[in-house]
Amino acid sequence: MSLVTDRRRVVLGVAGGIAAYKACELLRRLTESGHQVRVIPTESALNFVGAATFEALSGQPVHTGVFTDVPEVAHVRLGQQAELVVIAPATADLLARAAHGRADDLLTATLLTARCPVLLVPAMHTEMWLHPATRDNVALLRSRGIVVLEPAAGRLTGVDTGPGRLPEPVEIAELARLLLERPDALPQDLAGRRVVVSAGGTREPLDPVRFLGNRSSGRQGYALARVAAQRGAQVTLVSAHTADLVPPASVRMVTVGTAAELREVMVAESKQADAVVMAAAVADFRPESLVGHKIKKTESGPPTITLATNPDILVELVGLRPGGQLVVGFAAETGDESGDVLHHGRAKLARKGCDLLVVNAVGDGVAFEQPDNGGWLLAADGGETELANGSKALLASRVWDAVAARLG
Ligand code: CTP
Repeated sequence: MSLVTDRRRVVLGVAGGIAAYKACELLRRLTESGHQVRVIPTESALNFVGAATFEALSGQPVHTGVFTDVPEVAHVRLGQQAELVVIAPATADLLARAAHGRADDLLTATLLTARCPVLLVPAMHTEMWLHPATRDNVALLRSRGIVVLEPAAGRLTGVDTGPGRLPEPVEIAELARLLLERPDALPQDLAGRRVVVSAGGTREPLDPVRFLGNRSSGRQGYALARVAAQRGAQVTLVSAHTADLVPPASVRMVTVGTAAELREVMVAESKQADAVVMAAAVADFRPESLVGHKIKKTESGPPTITLATNPDILVELVGLRPGGQLVVGFAAETGDESGDVLHHGRAKLARKGCDLLVVNAVGDGVAFEQPDNGGWLLAADGGETELANGSKALLASRVWDAVAARLG
């Protein structure tokens, strides 16, 4: 799989925190996507990573002040030409300087001349993140349309844990791509909302070493959870088996194995939710009985495995739906002699009774295990929107648009 998408001009700002070392991996990911990346560290960032590292990885010169390349007026040129500015890590000091329009180094001066989407990725100690001064600065920046990510919770420098960790570079790169695809993809329109998203594929055990599973990677469900969290929602991600994915920052994760476990968790977690999204690929059938030992080859030929039908979780959630809650389903379809993908999608929306159904075509290397996705968003109120092919985060942002509009 090629990582190359298209060549865009990206400014990567790096402020002076220990997470500055992770900016190197982010830089690699951005350049591997084909972008031309100009790194602008602050003076203090260079205490953590040397300019030579950023120059070698980006293939571009690296300066911190406005008094280098004076005839070029670098802060104006870089800001005006940028199609995206990402600052990772953004320290409490950087957020404060950005919020108040300071221009005391090349990075903050560039921020004032940039008219493109700006993505700030905070990393700091929990106390600094939760301090009223930082909260106010974040609110002010967001009110101006700047995207300030929610940090991840977890181990910080030293022994303390809590919100303040830099989200993983792969996650930042995914959200950077999203803003390049769609600059208005991350408004704070889900603030105060609770959402539950299921992801991945269930595994139905046959014996201690074998199971019935499916090819779902979980990428679409993780993208839905990630985008919802960054649009302000309180997110629970119920994760069945997935590929090796990075847990989304600022999301509560519950892991499950079988359809029965997924059902139990979804029913419990959905009670308080404003929106529930069933992106998981649920096995429709399970082996009727679990054999307690490894099934052996015998002279008498292969064993007969009797299957039992699993409950339809989506239909059950629709039946239990409290007033005002939205339930969203997914349908991966292939066309057949009885109709095309859209025809099967419409029939499934009616059959399942959910409010929204995302329909996508699968098979022949489309959708499953791929970074991109597209299709249609069908609504019980009659709306049908085509979802242009793009990243799974882009598709997620369209789904949350429809949810936010209906939640009012
Ligand atoms: N789903 C579910 N429980 C099941 C099967 C599916 O909750 N036992 C949900 C999926 O999470 C998805 C939607 O229903 O949101 C549609 O899944 P799909 O597998 O396409 O539906 P099926 O009912 O299995 O239809 P088909 O006959 O096409 O397999």
